[in-house]
Amino acid sequence: MRIVILGSGRGSNADAILEAQQTGRLGRARVVAIFSDQPEAGILALGPRFNVPAVFVDPAPFKTKLEGEGEARFIAAVQAARPDLVVLAGFMRVLKPGFLTAFAGKIINLHPSLLPSFPGLDGIGQAFRRGVKFAGCTVHGVTAEVDGGPILDQAAVRVAPGETLESLSAKIHAAEHALLPVVIARLSEAENA
Ligand code: GAR
Repeated sequence: MRIVILGSGRGSNADAILEAQQTGRLGRARVVAIFSDQPEAGILALGPRFNVPAVFVDPAPFKTKLEGEGEARFIAAVQAARPDLVVLAGFMRVLKPGFLTAFAGKIINLHPSLLPSFPGLDGIGQAFRRGVKFAGCTVHGVTAEVDGGPILDQAAVRVAPGETLESLSAKIHAAEHALLPVVIARLSEAENA
C-alpha cells in the first residue's frame, strides 16, 4: 500500500509512521512521498532522514483552504506518487471537492480530540478549557464535512488532576504517535487481504 503524507508542521506523526515502517510495524504500507504547504515545515526534514521524497508544494492563492491553482498543484503532485492512501498528519488546510474527488475514499486524517467533540482548530485547547476528564485523538476518513468523516479508531487519555495544557498536549501527542501507524498497518492488511 503506497502512502502519501501531507503535513504543515513539525512532522512528529509522520516521523512515527516512518519509524514504524523502519521497524516493521507498518504492515504492508510504505511511505512513498511527503508533501507540505509550508516551505519551512519540520516535516520536510524527514525526507533525507528516511530517504523519502519530501517536497513543498505551493498552496497559493488561499490561506486556510486548498482550492484553485494550489489545489491543482497538490492534486498533480499527489497523483504522480500513485497513492493507495493519503494520510493527513497535521495538514492545516481544509480540503475542497477537487482534491476530495481525485482521491475519493483514500484520505484519512488525524485529529487531536475525541471526535465528534472539539472539531476544528486547537482540539486539545478546546478540550482542556472545557474541563473534560478524558481527551484523546481520532483517525477518521475524510469527507467534505471538516473532521466529520467516519471514525476509524480513537485513543483516549485521562486528564489527571493538576494537568496543564502542556502536559495534556504531550499525552495526546504520544497517543497519536501510537495510534496512527497502527491504523495504517491495519488498513494495509485489509487492502491486501
Ligand atoms: C497533530 O496533533 C494533529 O492531530 C494535528 O496537528 C498535529 C500535527 O503534529 N492536526 C490537526 O489539528 C488537524 N485539524 P505533527 O506535525 O507533529 O505531526
